[in-house]
Amino acid sequence: VDISQRRQAEQEVARLSRISILGEFAGAIAHELNQPLAAMLSNSQVGSSMMDEPKPDRTEMKAILDDITADAKRAGGIIHGMRAMFKKEGAVPDEAVDVNEAVKQLLDLLHSEIMARKVKVDLRLGGPLPCVPAGRVELQQVLMNLLLNALDALRGAAVAQPRITLSTALEADRVLISVQDNGPGIPPQVLDRLFEAFTTSKPTGLGLGLAISQSIIKRFGGELCGENHAEGGAVFRIKLPVAG
Ligand SMILES: Nc1ncnc2c1ncn2[C@@H]1O[C@H](COP(=O)(O)OP(=O)(O)OP(=O)(O)O)[C@@H](O)[C@H]1O
Ligand SMILES: [Mg+2]
Repeated sequence: VDISQRRQAEQEVARLSRISILGEFAGAIAHELNQPLAAMLSNSQVGSSMMDEPKPDRTEMKAILDDITADAKRAGGIIHGMRAMFKKEGAVPDEAVDVNEAVKQLLDLLHSEIMARKVKVDLRLGGPLPCVPAGRVELQQVLMNLLLNALDALRGAAVAQPRITLSTALEADRVLISVQDNGPGIPPQVLDRLFEAFTTSKPTGLGLGLAISQSIIKRFGGELCGENHAEGGAVFRIKLPVAG
C-alpha cells in the first residue's frame, strides 16, 4: 500500500468516526431535550383545560406556568451548552491572560456564594506566572464550573470543615491551575465518563459543565483532567501552555 492510499484510508476512517460521533451526539441531545419538551407539553395541556373551567384556580395556574418556564430554561440551557461546545476551533485566543488575576477576579465574583455555603477557600497563587494565550472570560467560565461542582459536592457531604484549595503554579512551560475539594469524591459510576456530555449524578444537573470546560481548555491548547485524591475528595487540573 503506498503512502497516499494509506493516508486516504486514514482520512476516511477519521471522517466516518466524526460522523458517528455526531450521530451519537444528535441522539443524546434529542434525548435530553425530549424530557423538558414533554413536560412543557403536558403542563400546557393541563393549563389550557383548566382555563375551560368557570373559575380557574389561579395558584395552580401560576405553578403550571412556573414549571413551563423552568423547563423552557432547562431546554435553553442544553442548547446553549451544545453551542458552546461546538464553537469554531478557528477562534484562536488572542488575549494574554494573567491567570492569577483571572482567578482573583472570579473569586471576588463568587464571594457571596462561597460565604453563603460556609466553605473555606484556600487560595495558593504561585508565581510570578507568565501570561497564557487564552480567553480570560472563558477561562473564568471553566474555573467557575469547577468551583460550582466542588461547592455542590461539599453541600451534601457531611464534612466537618468543607474546603476548596485553589492553586496555581508554573510547571516547566505550562501554567497549572488546580481545584481540589475535600468532599465525597467523584462517584465511581461517573469516573470513566466524567467529561462526556450529559454525564451527571445530580437530579437537576445538565451534565454539560465538564464537557464544555474540556472543549474550552483544548481550544487553548491545554488539558483538563480530574480524579479522586488519595486524601479523599476530587481534584481537577488545568494545564495551559505559555506562549512562545
Ligand atoms: N468536585 C467534584 N466532586 C465530586 N463529583 C464531581 C465533582 N465534579 C464533578 N463531579 C461529578 O461529575 C459529574 C459531571 O459534572 P458536570 O459539571 O459535567 O455536570 P453537572 O455538574 O452534573 O451538571 P452541570 O451541567 O450543571 O454542570 C457531576 O454530576 C458529579 O457526579
Ligand atoms: Mg457542573
